[in-house]
Amino acid sequence: MYKSFYSLAQTPFTKDLRPSDAFSSTDYKGATNALKYLQKSKGIGLLVGDPGAGKTFTLRTFKDSLSPSLYQVIYFPLSTGGVMDFYRGLAYGLGEEPKFRKVDLFRQIQQGIERLAQDRKITPVFILDEMHMAKDAFLQDIALLFNFQMDSTNPFILVLSGLPHLKTRLALNHHRPLTQRVIMKYEIQALTKEEVSGYVDHHLKIAGAKMPIFTEAAKEAIALRSQGWPRVINTITVNSLLFGSQLNKELIDEEIVRLAIEDSTL
Ligand SMILES: Nc1ncnc2c1ncn2[C@@H]1O[C@H](COP(=O)(O)OP(=O)(O)O)[C@@H](O)[C@H]1O
Ligand SMILES: [Mg+2]
Repeated sequence: MYKSFYSLAQTPFTKDLRPSDAFSSTDYKGATNALKYLQKSKGIGLLVGDPGAGKTFTLRTFKDSLSPSLYQVIYFPLSTGGVMDFYRGLAYGLGEEPKFRKVDLFRQIQQGIERLAQDRKITPVFILDEMHMAKDAFLQDIALLFNFQMDSTNPFILVLSGLPHLKTRLALNHHRPLTQRVIMKYEIQALTKEEVSGYVDHHLKIAGAKMPIFTEAAKEAIALRSQGWPRVINTITVNSLLFGSQLNKELIDEEIVRLAIEDSTL
């Protein structure tokens, strides 16, 4: 009901935000440029950031920017299923009927990649999200699986994404075979205070707001509490809209934001 109270045409901060509706923060642009660089060079890249920094969203906009006639994108969040499911998923994604044994499956995936790249001139793009959850053995498998030493250029693009400690883990000695081949690394940082204000306005505008709903001081309070992390900003903002509408406040001030924060156990 806060939607009608604030005359919003849509719910703000929906999960299916269109890439064209992205908020162009410095780091969103930075991460997008880093991914574009990887697209040109091919090979392995690393995209990390704190929870709710915008990794998955940025990966989705990257995926949507790739022409299906030139790229076959296989997106895989590690949270779903076990490691063998993952390899089978890769084989499926390459249009193969997955083999049973791991060695056969690996060969099949590698051949599938080469076939796509050489015969059909399509670059397979593997986007592996939530990779901080990967076990060591799995990261070592990835190093093997994506090793195409015979070729001068990589026939694939692989993006590993996850929380910042993924980067730290990869820096350990036993992951050097993989880390040495990472050609792009990017860490998404939090939004600045000014960006938080712009981010809130941007999302409300997309949702159909015709007038400012938050005072500058209210947005500052959101910036302070969220430390600039988009997912937290989303939660506080929505909660503030709920409180604001209940209290009949057309303009949301820092007091409402404070109530919203207290209520949301953030
Ligand atoms: N540049 C951006 N423009 C608009 N919304 C964003 C942007 N970056 C992040 N978000 C929003 O912030 C929320 C958290 O982003 P998400 O990609 O899920 O974070 P992560 O994967 O890093 O945990 C999502 O609802 C997303 O839509
Ligand atoms: Mg994510």
